[in-house]
Amino acid sequence: MAKAGESVAATKRGETKASGDGTVLGPTGRPYRGFATPPVLDGHGPARIVSLCNQKGGVGKTTTTINLAAALASYGRKVLAVDFDPQGALSAGLGIQTHDIPTIYDLLLNTKRDPREVIVPTRVEGLDIIPANIDLSAAEVHLVNEVAREQILAQVLRKVSKDYDVILVDCQPSLGLLTVNALTASHGVIIPLECEFFALRGVALLIETIDKVRDRLNPTITLDGVLATMYDPRTLHSREVLERVVDAFGDDVLETVIGRTVKFPDASVSGMPITEFAPEHSAAQAYLRLARELVDRGAVA
Ligand SMILES: Nc1ncnc2c1ncn2[C@@H]1O[C@H](COP(=O)(O)OP(=O)(O)OP(=O)(O)O)[C@@H](O)[C@H]1O
Ligand SMILES: [Mg+2]
Repeated sequence: MAKAGESVAATKRGETKASGDGTVLGPTGRPYRGFATPPVLDGHGPARIVSLCNQKGGVGKTTTTINLAAALASYGRKVLAVDFDPQGALSAGLGIQTHDIPTIYDLLLNTKRDPREVIVPTRVEGLDIIPANIDLSAAEVHLVNEVAREQILAQVLRKVSKDYDVILVDCQPSLGLLTVNALTASHGVIIPLECEFFALRGVALLIETIDKVRDRLNPTITLDGVLATMYDPRTLHSREVLERVVDAFGDDVLETVIGRTVKFPDASVSGMPITEFAPEHSAAQAYLRLARELVDRGAVA
């Protein structure tokens, strides 16, 4: 059930409001509810692969990958995070130095290589990572002439799928060949949207790309949810943007929204997920709730 006081805390942050009939509504306008603590799993794998995708930069893809991964791991899930951005922010955010170590780039270029040689554990129990660094920026050029060039990440991840319950792929801000590889490898996709001006700009193109991948490469890919990030309930602007996002996506908008807080930049600098850096902070609680909601929706085990 909902953690005691969770709804009260959300009300204090201004995220909820009472409707005419006294029901407490969450920020997306649906009745506020808690999500049950995920059941303990009997065994592990095969993984459901989920990409965090939006070609707009700075919307919270990496922050969500780090903290959702850590939250799922805290519920006993075995999680693999894949850094699929040459900026390497996911690796850095999880405290991994990527200079001079094998990375996802090596696995893409040599699909015979065992991914287990590249996977490294993080400080978070149950959370491993395939790191990336700037080398990955050369991958698109190398892959462009490969046979089945869109399916290379899928081929890599298939080899380790049985070891994990969830694989989260942190995409780069582009709709190029790497992102198409991520979508082709994925069972589901989560689209983080910043509650700011132009949040919806470019989203039609992203949806079109997902549709094309579904038509041509991966018929079963689903939209697991649209996640509102950097929400500030005190500003009318933030509330209006969220309203527009709900108008556009309806129930595909996840009920959990992530508030704007400086704790995220602070946690990134420390190389830790917020669930470890400041476990009591509302932002850590938000990502734990997101993990519970995704389990509740069946998006992850
Ligand atoms: N909820 C939040 N509140 C405040 N700051 C946030 C929040 N989420 C992320 N940030 C900060 O915003 C910046 C961008 O976030 P993040 O790197 O997660 O976005 P991204 O979509 O992965 O960006 P890119 O497209 O460059 O990969 C970072 O400095 C991060 O610390
Ligand atoms: Mg990123």
